[in-house]
Amino acid sequence: MTGSAAGTGSIAGSDSAATVDTATCGRLRRLAVPRFPAGLATPCLYVDLDVLDRNIAAMQATMDARGIALRPHVKTHKSVAIARRQLAAGAAGVTVGTLGEAEVMADAGITDLFVAYPVWAAGPKAKRLAALHARAQVIVGIDSAAGARGLAAAVARSATSLRVAVEIDSGQHRTGVTFDAAAGVAVAARDAGLEVIGVFTHGGHGYASGADRSTAASDEVRLLGEAAARLGAAGFTVSLISAGSSPTAVLSAVAPVNEERPGTYVFWDRQMVGLGAGEPDAVALVVLSTVVSAAVPGQVVLDAGAKTLTKDRPAWLDGFGALPAYPSATVSRVYDYHAVVWIPPGTPAPALGEVVAVVPNHVCPVVNQFDELVVGRAGVALERWPVDARGRSD
Ligand SMILES: Cc1ncc(COP(=O)(O)O)c(C=O)c1O
Repeated sequence: MTGSAAGTGSIAGSDSAATVDTATCGRLRRLAVPRFPAGLATPCLYVDLDVLDRNIAAMQATMDARGIALRPHVKTHKSVAIARRQLAAGAAGVTVGTLGEAEVMADAGITDLFVAYPVWAAGPKAKRLAALHARAQVIVGIDSAAGARGLAAAVARSATSLRVAVEIDSGQHRTGVTFDAAAGVAVAARDAGLEVIGVFTHGGHGYASGADRSTAASDEVRLLGEAAARLGAAGFTVSLISAGSSPTAVLSAVAPVNEERPGTYVFWDRQMVGLGAGEPDAVALVVLSTVVSAAVPGQVVLDAGAKTLTKDRPAWLDGFGALPAYPSATVSRVYDYHAVVWIPPGTPAPALGEVVAVVPNHVCPVVNQFDELVVGRAGVALERWPVDARGRSD
């Protein structure tokens, strides 16, 4: 981002430019410069354990103070070690997005699992769901009568009924039914033999801009409340009213919501700091990358790229990553194994061969590109943790 008279900014010469507002620019320029170990093969993912534990503790403390259960989404870290840290801090269980993530967690003994996704239980997935249900305490999302019937058929031979929650569309318009259609789906699920325990939503429309976060959070609370009331009126006992996204988690953690499912908060990322959801000193994971070329004036090239940083970029943010040690520089273009960093004229640039920390736009898909996380404290590497559920999008 270049500062302009109006205080907004965008990257010159970029194929990913957006005009970024003053407040967002200011927050991103204040990203804390991480300390990291020397001598690691790049690119790699480095996690600062102190920052990680601070993020886990802060979200847990907020939810504890409000009497709301925290069920973190593990799709961000896909790591058994980190899920265990979240549970040790007081999480009520974990959220997963796929049966594959659920199986990895269950294999590690983490068995309180909410598959917050409308699982279509056909073919091999039906068998896998039945096997998971037999060895774990599973809740599954539904947003259609047909989907519910498929789940019921999959677990028909089980000794216990499968618990489900009806997904409500609170404004993202991705999945979920309107609040006034929730009871119809719930009745179909009950008629099929499932145990309907409540409602859930993901206020993903809070990612659109900082201003949209609070609107999305109040949409989550209001529409979950309406849906829960409809289920109550239809004779259901509603024990679960679950909201969840990192931009809205704190803002929507009020009654009647009784559970939150943020995932990204564990690491935060450039997008979350830009939105004002995460603090500039709370980013726990960076991509370490080496400057491999400075041949073209006005830029350097890192050994990261689309296969590391991904091409994920919200419309309101320019570029594909930030270098906290070089706050004027931005990753302006990515190719598979090249990340082109635009250096505004007259500003410092990293030297050829220098290793830099990059804060990715969206940390979740970045983690899924790597087999392991290098974990350390105060710039000293301590351990390597596997990304256990890497690639388990199944
Ligand atoms: C259903 C559901 N719940 C929770 C989350 C966690 O949200 P976030 O990634 O903002 O932490 C997601 C993220 O995609 C989601 O889809």
